Amino acid sequence: MNDAVLSPPPHGVAGGPKVLLEVFGCQMNKLDAELVVGALKRSGYDFTDRDEEADAVLLVTCSIRDQAEHRVHSHLGEISVAKRARPDLAVGVLGCMASREGESLLKRWPALDFVVGTRDFPSVATVLDEVRADGTRIVAVDGSPQVSEEREIDVRPAKSRAYVTVMRGCDKRCTYCVVPNTRGLEVSRPMEDIYNEVHRLVDDGVVEVTLLGQTVNAWGRGAGNSLGDLLERLEELDGLRRVRFITSHPEEMDDRLIDSMANCHKAGLFLHLPPQSGSDAMLRRMARGYTADRYREIARELKARIPGVQMGADVIIGFPGETDADFESTVELVEEVRFSQAFLFRYSPRPGTPAWGRLADDVPDDVKRARLARLQKIQAAIQEERHQTLIGTRHEVLVEGQSRRNPRMLFGRNLAFDRIVFEGEPSWTDRFVDVEITDSTALTLSGKRVEVVPAACP
Ligand code: 5AD
Ligand code: SF4
Repeated sequence: MNDAVLSPPPHGVAGGPKVLLEVFGCQMNKLDAELVVGALKRSGYDFTDRDEEADAVLLVTCSIRDQAEHRVHSHLGEISVAKRARPDLAVGVLGCMASREGESLLKRWPALDFVVGTRDFPSVATVLDEVRADGTRIVAVDGSPQVSEEREIDVRPAKSRAYVTVMRGCDKRCTYCVVPNTRGLEVSRPMEDIYNEVHRLVDDGVVEVTLLGQTVNAWGRGAGNSLGDLLERLEELDGLRRVRFITSHPEEMDDRLIDSMANCHKAGLFLHLPPQSGSDAMLRRMARGYTADRYREIARELKARIPGVQMGADVIIGFPGETDADFESTVELVEEVRFSQAFLFRYSPRPGTPAWGRLADDVPDDVKRARLARLQKIQAAIQEERHQTLIGTRHEVLVEGQSRRNPRMLFGRNLAFDRIVFEGEPSWTDRFVDVEITDSTALTLSGKRVEVVPAACP
């Protein structure tokens, strides 16, 4: 949910026009970028990560906070300068900013050739073809809600892992959030579609899938299904070892899902369940549909029924009207639930949201910053304490790769989604390794290999 990354591997049709794809924002965007790569590859495009050899630059963008859009605008500033020297360079903005701003982006940036919204990715290759052929400027932002999930299964972040969209859009109206504007109403994919896609991924070496949806635990409700049914269906798939899912909504939590998480051995021992605040007044004003006590009840239930389960949080700090007492209620909730990880955000008013123009952004920035720093410190202490208790325990780690800072070190994750660092061979990447935790800080768990489990994928 943060860094601009050069996403999918730069491979495609050798000799075709070269596309530089840059991805900002959340996991959903990274997966959308994979769909874009697939569509462009099918149309004969190649990929590069070097500015100077690109024929087209495409930015997959995020609108969630002001800062995210800011970074894209400053990047467009740089690209505009480059385009003066290379007028043939095709420049496109894809995703949430395109959906939110549409044509006005083209007005603001003369160097921009096209915008393609979150539901229009299937048309990206046609749009790019047209732009390159005759220089027309194109706005494609009104696609159908039934987004095709046609994907190239080999375009994914790792041999052993893949993300799978199970639903798009969001039916909630949290007052701070642009997502319903940028991604539209909720549409779930049918169970068999998802099963077949996961099956193909598993046949290609994937052992861990992460199911993606804005309110993923509301998956399937139109068809009378629950996410629990999907977990149970995927449990049957030989070769698949882990199923994760993000992001869940507290209002959509039910016993059925908790039962399935408890019964399915492949289900990750981690639930990303953003409380957003611990103050009932704030939760009401955010239109979240639950109280802090209801949230506590869900957390208690989960921990009682699923041994070892961890929870992850998103918290918004300085939402309109947040008093010291409201903030203290959030501190209390965080201290009580003891999340294994938490993303903490300062409130950023977003145009077009229900709060925009209705709820004044009245918590001064220095107060937001001070509250944020305090909660960060509290959360760090909670993580540090928890990490200490893990010293001496053993974990089955799916290795994701070499640590950037020290190539002799590998990192990977256990079933509870803890990131664990340990010394090993690069060839262990994409395999399961048993690791014993030997050391920890607030941010990291480090350990040593105990025994290599026979590889689940070649
Ligand atoms: N300001 C700050 N944080 C926000 N989020 C969503 N909208 C805003 C906003 N306007 C946070 C929420 C959400 C996460 C993805 O981003 O915590 O869960
Ligand atoms: Fe945004 Fe709320 Fe929907 Fe999450 S549930 S995407 S915060 S509107």
